Amino acid sequence: MSKEKVIIEKNQGQALMTSSSVKKEKKLYIESYGCQMNMNDSEIVASILEKEGYGTTNLLHEADLVLVNTCSIREKAEQTIRKRLQKYNAVKKINPKMKVGVLGCMAERLKEKFLEEEKIVDLVVGPDAYRDLPNLLREINEGRDAVNVILSKDETYGDVAPVRLNNNGVSAFVSITRGCDNMCTFCVVPFTRGRERSRDPQSVMQEIDDLYNNNYKEITLLGQNVDSYLWYGGGLKKDYKKASDIAKATAVSFSQLLDMVAIKYPTLRIRFYTSNPQDMEEEVLHIMAKHDNICKYLHLPVQSGSSSVLKRMNRQHTREEYMELIDKVKRIIPGCALSQDMITGFCGETEEEHEDTLSLMKYVRYDYGFMFAYSERPGTLAAKKMPDDVPLDIKKRRLAEVIKLQREISLEITQSYIGKTLEVLIENESKKSKDEWMGRNQHNYAVVFPKGDFKIGDFAMVKIIDCTSATLKGIVVEK
Ligand code: SAH
Ligand code: F3S
Repeated sequence: MSKEKVIIEKNQGQALMTSSSVKKEKKLYIESYGCQMNMNDSEIVASILEKEGYGTTNLLHEADLVLVNTCSIREKAEQTIRKRLQKYNAVKKINPKMKVGVLGCMAERLKEKFLEEEKIVDLVVGPDAYRDLPNLLREINEGRDAVNVILSKDETYGDVAPVRLNNNGVSAFVSITRGCDNMCTFCVVPFTRGRERSRDPQSVMQEIDDLYNNNYKEITLLGQNVDSYLWYGGGLKKDYKKASDIAKATAVSFSQLLDMVAIKYPTLRIRFYTSNPQDMEEEVLHIMAKHDNICKYLHLPVQSGSSSVLKRMNRQHTREEYMELIDKVKRIIPGCALSQDMITGFCGETEEEHEDTLSLMKYVRYDYGFMFAYSERPGTLAAKKMPDDVPLDIKKRRLAEVIKLQREISLEITQSYIGKTLEVLIENESKKSKDEWMGRNQHNYAVVFPKGDFKIGDFAMVKIIDCTSATLKGIVVEK
């Protein structure tokens, strides 16, 4: 993602701008927090508002409309948004005509309460209501507050061509599912993003076609749970059993979609996330193995290495079943890179259960991971039924242990790359030096190397000469 948790940090407060911004009459400043779904949703919002005469700006003080696309996944994410709203408040004193809208998961979670709690907010719009933005803007321009947080059974924004914001023109996200049905007991997403639905494969292919024709080199199929993708003519995943025989016979699964994309675009690099272990079918692994253009990298969040914790989390698999899945991945796709999401200090977690997490990490040897201390979210089953009883210092100590172990494993793996030559797709200038490029190999490692006469979007063969636990450093050996 580009992985969710890294993105959470990296994209904090990112203002997004399009090339068309200067031509529009009204100015939109849009900031996105949280997961890639939010980044992609902001592109959809920019597209909807472009038609209303809004061009994007990265200058907060000149904006007519400020939108913040919010994240509710942990309490800290929400606190960050509240701080941002204070900043907007200060800017509004200089620019009083500026309107402020809140989008995304926090909007969905707090609804009208947002307007009471944060006086600066004029507009509250949930993830399924972005098409209503033109109407809602008319409301606020006439001096009324506006709220739409209705969740949808079939909204996928399939026909909205996202305005690619702050994009390198090389890699893009293509959303294929919305919502999540899994109801992990700790997670707020099913409440904020609603029930799971899949996007029409034709519109997915159309979007990829446009990207391909615009010289994009890499796409990532995106969803809270991509393996659960199932198109049977539209509607909620849970209603599939009620579908007609014809709809069932012509249904498209995730492995079929992946296969279709890989066959149609043999020169495009293909990634996808997030995979959920309980929904991952073996066929997906075979499709990955079959096509050179599908990157050999899987983000397979597990959250805990203990079967009893997994049960309390309502994850639908045990430690042993997860290990079997990992064995299968390693057998079918030798060398496949793996990453994890882990939560420490979930309700009732004992020291022994925590040790199970560490031992699972040693078993799998993830390339990297995204690790968090448990944060109770209002409205979730865990918040209602299970005491958040692991003291904060213990959560943090366990988190530190998990992070330390992951760093050690990551470093051992990155060191094993030294001397190897990797194909790298150049994405951006290195953050540390303007003389170096940063690109990624298929296993999603960031690779940094001297620029030479390469440009963004080129593939380069890079020999690795040095590393940290997260980055490989190299020199180009051939184009
Ligand atoms: N399937 C999703 C998961 C979304 S949430 C995806 O696209 O990645 C991302 C991660 O945040 C989860 O995998 C989990 O590790 C973490 N997370 C979710 N709820 C949390 C909570 N209440 N406290 C701490 N971490 C949480
Ligand atoms: Fe959340 Fe579990 Fe879905 S972590 S997004 S409920 S798979």
